[in-house]
Amino acid sequence: MDQIHITGGSPLHGVIEVSGAKNSALPILAASLLGGGECIVDNVPQVRDLITMAKLLSLLGVDVQTEGARVRLEARNVQSVEAPYDLVKTMRASILALGPLLARLGEAKVSLPGGCAIGTRPVNLHLKGLAMMGAEVLVEHGYIHAKATRLKGARIDLDFPTVTGTENLIMAACLATGTTSLHNVAREPEIIDLCAFLAKRGAKILGAGTDTITIEGVSELHGAQHTVMPDRVEAGTFVMAGAITGGDIMVQGCLTDHLGAVFTKIQEMGVQLTERSDGVRVRRSAPLQAVEVKTLPYPGFPTDLQAQMMALMSVAEGTSIMTETIFEGRFQHVPEFHRMGASIEVDGHHAVVKGIPTLTGAQVMASDLRASAGLVLAGLAAEGETMISRVYHLDRGYERLEEKLGALGAQVARVRDVA
Ligand code: EPU
Repeated sequence: MDQIHITGGSPLHGVIEVSGAKNSALPILAASLLGGGECIVDNVPQVRDLITMAKLLSLLGVDVQTEGARVRLEARNVQSVEAPYDLVKTMRASILALGPLLARLGEAKVSLPGGCAIGTRPVNLHLKGLAMMGAEVLVEHGYIHAKATRLKGARIDLDFPTVTGTENLIMAACLATGTTSLHNVAREPEIIDLCAFLAKRGAKILGAGTDTITIEGVSELHGAQHTVMPDRVEAGTFVMAGAITGGDIMVQGCLTDHLGAVFTKIQEMGVQLTERSDGVRVRRSAPLQAVEVKTLPYPGFPTDLQAQMMALMSVAEGTSIMTETIFEGRFQHVPEFHRMGASIEVDGHHAVVKGIPTLTGAQVMASDLRASAGLVLAGLAAEGETMISRVYHLDRGYERLEEKLGALGAQVARVRDVA
């Protein structure tokens, strides 16, 4: 198992490039299952979760060819309807095969994703929506088993705007008979990207990016080319790296429109952000100031940047409050921040962060993908050396992170775990 060692304290300088969005590429690759014809997907980040998704699709019978950031997929001969436990347990996003398999083949058997480090994460809304489209859904022996001769269009009102739930239902509705209207759906930019890809394949979708999406089913989809949008969570992490180190960096390829709520808070902390056509410049010359942040569905502050924001709060002047409303268990990074000297008290969904002048390097352990990124940011700002173990979490969603940060002058190295 690898570790990341960081010697903190160097302000970052230079240009850092944003990769394609993991959470956009995952449903887009899964959507290849919806029909034959070559799909060419560009700007796919080379991270562990995408490798797992390619593996799952190959197992189902999709011909997947990866050439750097380009993935070619041909799903003419899908032979299996089963996403097995061994793959689903390593990547929850395997649930994204459920809607497409059911719509295309009339059957899907997907291992029920368990809870994870950030919460219990049920998929009841995915299942309820598919049942409303006429599927017979059973959960038995740890598997979701869904069947439908042909899905039928329906009106579905979601209790909560679940991201992958919205994506599963959109994909399923593409091949259903008649019209499906989905209400209270997720408005994340990744949904818009998925719908853009589906539309290129011949799907009829209206309203992506709003809380109501209408899909008119078609009998089949064809091949298409699509370029995945830039990763807003990676971009936000880089902006925060510039902010926490007090450097001057250019985050290239960052779509500033996707980060409105994040930029507002970072500016409130005293960081200068200059929006440019090709990205954003980040500078800081005064100490960071405390802020109050609440995570919310898009366009609110993303839960996927909560741990990173808490690293900034730890060294800001004054007392900050972080409220996590999306996942009940997403404060696992707090005890690790404590090891670096941070003053954070958790009370239910709230964390009260009393800023201190500087964190101190320590041995810490990553508990999930975004918690790892939070620890990297803390390490960049800390005095001395921080050694982060279990960085396989980081590798699930950040492409060449140590190389990218190293090019900005950060002292970051990947080393083999000796334990
Ligand atoms: N929820 C339910 N029932 C459902 C579905 C969701 O109760 O059927 C609850 C969840 O338990 C959670 C909330 O709704 O409390 C939001 O969950 P959502 O379904 O929106 O999350 P997700 O689709 O499983 C995606 C991202 C996550 C990101 C969340 C929230 C992908 C592949 N994953 O997960 O990304 O945190 O949306 O924005 O798109 C990450 O990249 O590190 C990551 C965890």
